[in-house]
Order: sequence, then C-alpha cells, then structure tokens
Amino acid sequence: MAAPVVVDAAYLKEIDKARRQLRALISSKNCAPIMLRLAWHDAGTFDVKTKTGGANGSIRNDEELKHGANSGLKIAIEFCEEVKKNHPRITYADLYQLAGVVAVEITGGPTVEFVPGRKDSLVSPKEGRLPDAKQGVQHLRDIFYRMGLSDKDIVALSGAHTLGRAHPERSGFAGAWTNEPLKFDNSYFGELLKGESEGLLKLPTDKALLEDPEFHHYVELYAKDEDAFFRDYAIAHKKLSELGFAPSSSASKVKSSTVLAQSAVGVAVAATVVVLSYLYEARRIKK
Ligand code: HEM
Repeated sequence: MAAPVVVDAAYLKEIDKARRQLRALISSKNCAPIMLRLAWHDAGTFDVKTKTGGANGSIRNDEELKHGANSGLKIAIEFCEEVKKNHPRITYADLYQLAGVVAVEITGGPTVEFVPGRKDSLVSPKEGRLPDAKQGVQHLRDIFYRMGLSDKDIVALSGAHTLGRAHPERSGFAGAWTNEPLKFDNSYFGELLKGESEGLLKLPTDKALLEDPEFHHYVELYAKDEDAFFRDYAIAHKKLSELGFAPSSSASKVKSSTVLAQSAVGVAVAATVVVLSYLYEARRIKK
C-alpha cells in the first residue's frame, strides 16, 4: 500500500504554486476540456463496494491509458507532467484532480473546493468501468451508482459537456455540444432541450437525460437556472474528485491552522500600525 500523503504547510504551498502553473498552462494551450476529461476518467473508475479504482492517478499507467475510453488522454497526461516536473512532491492523483478543478474555474465555471492528500496507485482496474456513450438510462445509473453517485450528480456532471468536443479518431463521435466549447455555462442543457441542432453533438447518453423523468427534471432546472446548475455541479464535481479518497482531518487542520496563523499575523501587523500611529501622534502633539 502507498504511504499516506503528508499534507503539511509546505505541501499546501506546492499545491498553490501548481494551481497557478495550471492556470497559465490551461489558458495558453486552451486545453481545459481535455484536462477535465482526464480528471473525470481517473476518478470515474471507482467502485464503492470493493473500494477499488477512483482518483488515484492510476490512469497514467500504460495499461489503463490504453483502455478505449481513455483514447487521446495521453496529451493531458503530458501537460500535467510539465507541472509535476516543477512540483514533484504533489501526487499524480492530486495533480489530475487539481487540473480538473482549475479547468472548470478558468473557463468561467463554479469554484470547486479542492482538498489535497490523494495517494497514487499503480494498480489499474479492468477495462469497462467508464460509461459507454452508445447506451442509455439504465447504463448511466449502473455506472454512476457503482461510484456511489446519485441521479442529480449524473445530470449535473453531464453538464461538463458544455466544454470541449468529440474527436472521431478518439471516440468515433464528432463535434461540440455547445456553440462556445471553451466557456463553462449551462448552455449544454438549453441545447439538449432544443433537440437536434445543425453541427452540435448529442450522444445517446446525453439524450437519455431527456427520457427519464427524474433526469429530465434536472435538465429543465439547470437550463433555466444557471445558479442551481453551478451549485449542484460544484458539489457533484467535488464528490467525483474525492472518489476513493477520504480526506484526512489533518489536511483541513493544516489548512485552517495556516489560515489562523495568517490571520494572527494580520492582526499583529494591524495592531502594530495602530500603536505606532498613536505614538507618532502623541509625539507630534508634545512638540
Ligand atoms: C455521462 C456519461 C458520459 C459519457 C458517455 C461521456 C462520453 C464522452 C465522449 C464520447 C467524449 C468525446 C471524447 C473524444 O472524442 O475526444 C467526451 C468528451 C468529454 N467529456 Fe464526457 N462523457 C460522460 C460524462 C462526462 C463527465 C461526468 C465529465 C466531467 C465531469 C465529462 C467531461 C468531458 C469533457 C470535458 C469532454 C471534452 C474533451 C475534449 O474536448 O477533448 N464527461 N465524453
């Protein structure tokens, strides 16, 4: 078993720097969609019953990267390698999920809370855990319930297809879901409700969201209320990014103690300024 990841103040500092590098890299290469797909495919292999798969960096293993569903993701792995080179302490598992969170943020989507500390694994699950785009409602439920996710999560997360496109040489499908595939908004749901539109893609699994009444309810809601979509998306994405990972309380403790320490320094500086200005004023009056 991999050793636990020590999330201390130095690790958090590295995360912060990696986040900045990812922002620059993703905007200069316009690669938000594929970075988000990488994060999702690493996490989406989770099986809640056997506690195998999940956000553990195993997608970088050649064996898993060669799974049909992961076609094209080598590009994103290589982009992440540029960040790993500068921040070797950060695990691949954390790095891929951080890239997914930054991809959403930088394209205008909601802020997804990121808690570090995921362990890397060299064990890959057997092929077949990710969804097959040619299937329908039952398949979506089978796959996402296996991860421990809900109907609401399925619809909210499908809204990630607001970004990017399908490439015939990777998946056999072609085209983008929306007219602005580098902008994270709720237009995926509006397009879905409009039906077929010239030049835009709808996978069978996207259309399935209209067939089931429970799914349909969320499609309607998210098409008319972007705030509701952003709120539910941020919750579902955080869950996805933590599949197979139980954040240790130490990570949040370090975070809050760092914040506390920073606030204490802030208060001390403010107090010093007040005292100094008082002394200065007192001296001025004396003169
Ligand atoms: C619901 C089941 C899902 C199916 C069947 C599915 C299937 C697909 C397929 C076939 C592609 C095209 C790949 C290519 O040709 O390059 C794709 C792209 C993409 N998927 Fe999904 N997906 C699903 C859910 C998700 C989720 C949950 C996310 C993220 C939270 C996501 C994010 C993306 C993104 C961002 C792209 C665009 C990649 C690019 O432009 O390179 N997908 N998906």
